[in-house]
Amino acid sequence: MFSKSLIAISALVGSALAQTCPEVNRFGTLKFPNPIVLGQAITFQANYTCARELGFGPVVYGDFFLQVPESNNTGFQPPIYFARRSPSGDEDTFTVTFDPTYVGFTTYPDAQYQIVQATTHAAQSDSYGTTLTTGEIFYPVSVVQASN
Ligand SMILES: *[C@@H]1O[C@H](CO)[C@@H](O)[C@H](O)[C@H]1NC(C)=O
Ligand SMILES: *[C@@H]1O[C@H](CO)[C@@H](O)[C@H](O)[C@H]1NC(C)=O
Repeated sequence: MFSKSLIAISALVGSALAQTCPEVNRFGTLKFPNPIVLGQAITFQANYTCARELGFGPVVYGDFFLQVPESNNTGFQPPIYFARRSPSGDEDTFTVTFDPTYVGFTTYPDAQYQIVQATTHAAQSDSYGTTLTTGEIFYPVSVVQASN
């Protein structure tokens, strides 16, 4: 009796987790404070639990950019590449401090921004080795100077 109810409980937990894993999370999720205050330590929390639950391969790289979307970009605002991570588990927390004196921030103080989370997975093949695939997720974010 005891072992049967344990099995029933773990089946419930399994289906509950699957339900919280929408397909959109296949490249991971990312938590961070909004707005991003320049010159202050910003903590990012990436979570690849659902990527694994949905059957994607191991995460090889988590790459992160802060960029001005094309619709708001003068053409002279290149993406800021702020982290390349090689997560060892499903959760990866890291901290970044953006330079408030960077010319892109000072020249275009009203620019709109988005965070790009670019997740590279490895798909294994027995015959030809590894194929890497990258998926991107975009998160709108405000970027402000500390004095604002
Ligand atoms: C990571 O995602 C999983 C699945 O959604 C969730 O159960 C877990 O609590 C998350 N971890 C953190 C630290 O938020
Ligand atoms: C981007 O958006 C801001 C705020 O709306 C605006 O002041 C600025 O002129 C826009 N820049 C471009 C290149 O569209």
